[in-house]
Amino acid sequence: GKTVEVWLSAQEGICNQDGYNRPCMTFNGTIPGPLITANWGDDLVIHVTNNLESNGTAIHWHGLRQLNTVQYDGVPGVTQCAIAPGETLTYRYKVSQYGSTWYHSHFSLQYSEGLFGPMVFNGPATANYDEDLGVLFLQDWSHTTVFRAWGHKQRYGITHSLSNLLLNGTNTFDCSAHDSDPNCVGGGKKFETVFKPGKKHLIRLANVALDSQFRFSIDGHKLKVIANDLVPIEPYETDSVVISAAQRYDIVVEANAKSDNYWMRAVWVNTCSAVANDNPNSGTGIVRYDASSVAEPTTTSNVMLPAGCADEPGESLVPYVKVDVGNIAGTTLENLNMRLTHEGVFQWTINSSTLIIDWANPTLKQIFDGVDLFPTPYNVVPVDKTSPDHAGDEWAILVIENVAAGALGEVAHPIHLHGHDFWILAQGYGTHWDGTQDSFQFTNPPRRDTAILPAHGYLAIAFRLDNPGVWLVHCHIAWHASQGLSLEFVERRGSISVQGQDRKVFDETCQAWDRWESQS
Ligand code: C2O
Repeated sequence: GKTVEVWLSAQEGICNQDGYNRPCMTFNGTIPGPLITANWGDDLVIHVTNNLESNGTAIHWHGLRQLNTVQYDGVPGVTQCAIAPGETLTYRYKVSQYGSTWYHSHFSLQYSEGLFGPMVFNGPATANYDEDLGVLFLQDWSHTTVFRAWGHKQRYGITHSLSNLLLNGTNTFDCSAHDSDPNCVGGGKKFETVFKPGKKHLIRLANVALDSQFRFSIDGHKLKVIANDLVPIEPYETDSVVISAAQRYDIVVEANAKSDNYWMRAVWVNTCSAVANDNPNSGTGIVRYDASSVAEPTTTSNVMLPAGCADEPGESLVPYVKVDVGNIAGTTLENLNMRLTHEGVFQWTINSSTLIIDWANPTLKQIFDGVDLFPTPYNVVPVDKTSPDHAGDEWAILVIENVAAGALGEVAHPIHLHGHDFWILAQGYGTHWDGTQDSFQFTNPPRRDTAILPAHGYLAIAFRLDNPGVWLVHCHIAWHASQGLSLEFVERRGSISVQGQDRKVFDETCQAWDRWESQS
């Protein structure tokens, strides 16, 4: 493999994504940030400079396993100290997977302010397509900063409305209803892409929403789904896909239709969301067969919104490389329940405690310092092999139950695990877990890095204990994660080791954060 070097600057600015000016955060001045692309097996060297005024930051490479490089997973308070303003941290790791993903700030709600970008890793050319159209981001967008929106939600219990839906960071917005608003300057554009007649086009769909799930479709076209997250699957054909926050689907679309223009649609799935959307039907972009045409499409869609809030059906998501879940008997972490209970107003908790994040004292640092972590008063959980030098595979099973009472339990949560793909053993929709493994699928189950914990239901996942480190598992609805809907695994503590230059970089980042904090 070769080495690919990238420079990212996290900075503040005023953004106009859809004709509305608002304060925002960007990488290198654009939303989305620059594309990072490499080949499977390459080494990435990514220099991240924090040019934010008065905020720490840290960047996570969503879905990348960080095999033996937990110190570059980018979670402040867990795997690193936050990068202080004015400082640069260089992330170094190997590209261990191929396909489509995204990078994003893992500091508070920063990615919903604009701190995210695409990642594409080339692997063996197994998929059948002619044109690669790259990553297509679907996103909800607020016209106030989300910090402000979140503050209102916390303080006044206001159900916040998100203002728009963006496709690759762009859309139009109707300013006629906002005459007196000086920020509504107009000039937003619809996302457009061009199809070559008769050719097969790869679209790398990624949902980078703060909160929303979308149903994606292209009028007059079938979608062939070939990967979920970073895992190739047996291709299946469909009229539309539902995609939750942080999920990705690679889809191939054959340009076999007859008109000049078609709408593509990212329709907000309102049954998935506790926030309202001011503009629920505006997530449209344009597919042109005739690149010179400027006309708006006149096509229609008969794709229906789903009744509930679900993932694409598990039967459809069959991994191309088959892996069965085995040797679970030896696992130390059996049937750990993360119970979501409602304690106090708008405060989510797991096992009746909330994860405490200390930007200056990450769990990994405590491990280096030999701190006695367990039991913790908050959500840090040890996972170990039954015998440290057990040669074979061992697996952990995690059953997450959504037992919150009343309206809170009606919310579904896209659950993401760091450092691993997980195997989905069961998703229970609207039904409690019976406490047994009878319904679990162990033979080549769906495998990915983000999946829905259904409303009033459960999600059972398995992962291999093959990556010593500290790994977060959390809801990827940005404000839920910030409210504490997350948990850390310390996987095989005795085998976590960060040496030499990597350790020096880790320590320097913490020292710089301490200096900055004591000055401000
Ligand atoms: Cu997309 Cu904890 O990450």
